[in-house]
Amino acid sequence: MNKRFYLTTAIDYVNGAPHLGHAYEKVLADVIARVHRSMGGEVFFLTGLDEHGQKVQQAAQEQGKTPQAYCDELAVQWLAFVQKLGLSNDDFVRTTDQRHKDVVQAILSKLHAEEQFYKKPYVGFYSVREETFLTEKDRNPDGTWDAKWGQVNELVEENWYFKLGQHQQWLIEYIEANPGFIQPDYRRNEVLGFLRSQTLEDLCITRPAARLSWGIPLPFDPGFVTYVWFDALVNYFSVPVSLGDEGALGALPSAFRKQLPPISLWPADVHLIGKDILKFHAVYWPIMLKALGAPLPKTLLVHGWWQKDGAKLSKSTGNVVDPIAVIDEWGLDAFRYYLVRELGIGPDGNWTDDGFKSRYNAELANGLGNLLNRSISMLNKYRGGVVPAQSDELKPEAVVALKVIEGKLAAYDLQGALVEIWKEVNRANLYIEQTRPFSLAKDPAQAARLDAVLYNLVETCRILAVLLWPFIPATAEKIFAQLNVAGSPADWKLTEWGGLAAGHTIGTPIPLFPRKDLVPK
Ligand code: MSP
Repeated sequence: MNKRFYLTTAIDYVNGAPHLGHAYEKVLADVIARVHRSMGGEVFFLTGLDEHGQKVQQAAQEQGKTPQAYCDELAVQWLAFVQKLGLSNDDFVRTTDQRHKDVVQAILSKLHAEEQFYKKPYVGFYSVREETFLTEKDRNPDGTWDAKWGQVNELVEENWYFKLGQHQQWLIEYIEANPGFIQPDYRRNEVLGFLRSQTLEDLCITRPAARLSWGIPLPFDPGFVTYVWFDALVNYFSVPVSLGDEGALGALPSAFRKQLPPISLWPADVHLIGKDILKFHAVYWPIMLKALGAPLPKTLLVHGWWQKDGAKLSKSTGNVVDPIAVIDEWGLDAFRYYLVRELGIGPDGNWTDDGFKSRYNAELANGLGNLLNRSISMLNKYRGGVVPAQSDELKPEAVVALKVIEGKLAAYDLQGALVEIWKEVNRANLYIEQTRPFSLAKDPAQAARLDAVLYNLVETCRILAVLLWPFIPATAEKIFAQLNVAGSPADWKLTEWGGLAAGHTIGTPIPLFPRKDLVPK
C-alpha cells in the first residue's frame, strides 16, 4: 500500500468569521494537494476547526448556549466557507469529534504512564484572551499589562506539566540534521535561535475544570481539562488513527485498531501554518510526538501574514477583506489566483483592491482570457474550428518552461510557478503579434503558415489549462470545454506537446474573465 501525501492546514478557531488569512492558507494547501493529485500522487488533505477553550466557553455563555451548540452553529459557516473556496479536502476535523477526543485522551494516558507529566502549583498571572500564563517579564515597566493580553487575572492553582525541557537538546539536533523540516530557511533559523538562546520551560498542559470546563477531560485526574494547544495539535494525528492508519496506530494501545480498509498517512508530509503558530508546531508538537514514540512530520511550511492597505487586518477598525464578498463579485478563480500570485509562501503580503483589480484585468482578462478568446476565434474564423496538422514551433519553449514550472512546484514556490506560467501566456500573446495570423489569412500563399500558427496557439491554450488546473480549476475546465477536449485537465501527463489532433473540432469562445473596468456599475 502506498503512503499518501498527507497535507494539513492549521485548524481555525471556531469563534470568529473566516477571513482573508484563513482563505489564503486553505487555498495554498488546496493548490499543493491538486498539484500532487494531478501528478498521479495519492493525497490526503485535512483541514478543520479548533473548538475548545475559554474564549468559546465565554462566548457561548454570553449567548446563553451550550458550548457544543455554539460550536455546531459556527461549524456550519466554516464548512460552507470550505466549499466556497472550492477546496478538495478529504476530511474535516473538529476537535469536538469523539474520534479526536479519544486519541487525545489515549496520548495523555500513555505519556502519564510513562511519567512524562508532573503536577505542581502555579502562582501568578493569566491572560484569558491568549489563554496563557504570564510572568513579571511580560509586564510593562510601569506595572500595567499590555492591551494584547486582554483581561489579566491573578491565579493560584495547581496544574499538570509536560517535561518539555528535557528534550531541548534533542530538538536542536533534530532541526539541524533535517534542513527541510522547517521551511523557509529563515523560519528554521528563528526556531534554532530561540532554542539555542533560551531555556525551554516545561509546558502546562491542563486547566482546572472549575475555571474552564470546555475542554477534553484529563483521563487520569478529573479535576482538569486539556490545554487547547495540546488538544489542537493532536488533530493531525487523531484523524489518521480514526481511519486505521498503521503509521499512527503504532504509537497507541491496540484497542484503537479497528477493522478498516488499509490507509497509510502518518507521518504528515506537510503541515501548512502561519508564522504566528510556529513555536507550537516546531517546538511543542515534535516533542509531543517524540515522547509518544511516533515519527515526526516531514515539513512545516510556514507562510506569512496578510495586511490590507499596509495595516493589520482588524475587525474592530474595519480593515478587513471579506473573502466571500470578493468571490461573489469577481469569481472564485480570480480570488484564488490573486492570493497565490501576489504572495509567495514566506513573507508578509499586502492586499489592495487596486492591486487585485489590476491583476484581474491585466493578467486574467487581458492575458489569459484574451489569448484563449483570440486563439479559438481565429481557428473558428479561418479554419471552421478544425485543428490543422501538428506544428512544433512553440514546443521547445513549452518543454523548457514545463521543467522550470515543475521545479518551482517541487519547492512549494507556487507564486514562482504562476510567474512562469504567465510567461507562456505572454509568449503566446506575443506570438500572435509577431506572426499576425489576421494578415496571413488574407494571403492564400500563407495557408500552411497560418495552419502552423493556429495549431501552436490552441495547443498552448490546452497545455495552459493543465498547468493551471491546480490553481484555478474551474477556469481550466472551461478552457478544456471551449477547446472541446474530452476529459479533465487534472492530469499532468497532458502537459505533453501534441495533445490536440489534426481534424479535432473546437468549440466556441466565451470570455473567461469578463473585463470589469468596461462593465458599468
Ligand atoms: N487554532 C489555531 C491553530 C491550531 S493548529 C493545530 C489558530 N487558529 S487561527 O484561526 O487563529 O488561525 C488559523 C491559521 O490562519 C493560522 O495558520 C494563522 O497563521 C492563519 N492566519 C490568521 N490570520 C492571518 C493573516 N492575516 N494572514 C495570513 N494568515 C493568517 O491559530
